[in-house]
Amino acid sequence: MNKLLIDLYRVLKKLVFYPKALREVLNFEGDIKDYVIRSYNLDCGLPTIDILHLCPNLNEAITPFSFLEGASTPIDIAVLRALARNYKHCKYLEIGTWRGESVANVSEIAEKCVSISLSVDEMRKAGLSTDFIKVHRFFSNSSPNIKHIGHNSHTFDYSLLEDKFDLIFIDGDHTYEGVKIDTKNAFTLVKDNKSVIVWHDYGLSFERVRWSVLAGILDGCPEDKRQNLYHISNSLCAIYTQADYKSSVLNFPQLPNKSFNVQISAKRFDL
Ligand SMILES: C[S@@+](CC[C@H](N)C(=O)[O-])C[C@H]1O[C@@H](n2cnc3c(N)ncnc32)[C@H](O)[C@@H]1O
Repeated sequence: MNKLLIDLYRVLKKLVFYPKALREVLNFEGDIKDYVIRSYNLDCGLPTIDILHLCPNLNEAITPFSFLEGASTPIDIAVLRALARNYKHCKYLEIGTWRGESVANVSEIAEKCVSISLSVDEMRKAGLSTDFIKVHRFFSNSSPNIKHIGHNSHTFDYSLLEDKFDLIFIDGDHTYEGVKIDTKNAFTLVKDNKSVIVWHDYGLSFERVRWSVLAGILDGCPEDKRQNLYHISNSLCAIYTQADYKSSVLNFPQLPNKSFNVQISAKRFDL
């Protein structure tokens, strides 16, 4: 059984029966922040690229979207869609499928999508409930240009994939070790110097860093590529890009320098 998943199960169980243990988790975040500052001199996290510099024509309708737990936020999915438009025949790789919202959205634009997530067997062995397992691939299972792979991303043999990728989205195991392994692997899977890697949950919120994820990104990233890592403003994402963007260090709290237009409508499914 996967050791990380067992650890995660233990932590969740402990938090349910002993909520004060949350402090231990938070202290870990504090320790790892110190580690990042000591090792990389990044007191405020990664430098930030303005989302409108990265995606100047940003205008995306996000569908499907469940507004349920665990999905990327609409702005994160909008960034993925906008980035996919930069490639004529975009090849997209994702780690972490969940309900399939991010991959289903990108599949409208990309030519080919591959989404790797724990298999049903791995989730069962990790003690995850039938309901938890059932939601996987809800939105993505029937898309013809999405290939699903049920496997732990840490142990998957990536040489089995026939493609290299333009756009890679890392959104699987968010522990330090998990992000580090997925990051190392992602750098072996980029197609060329126009390829980008996007990490979800670099931000704890839109203006706060999730230091354990940042530490995993930095330690997993080849040393000569670290200067190409950025936060994308107004999102929870970090990006690796070799393109030349203006970036700046943002301090909390920011005065808004743009306004988004958000229009929401919904339609019930006949299940
Ligand atoms: C945050 S959700 C992904 C959300 C999805 N990308 C979206 O935006 O709609 C994380 C997913 O990663 C999967 N996962 C967690 N650890 C994993 C691992 N080691 N290997 C593969 N998948 C993993 C979980 O089962 C879950 O489906």
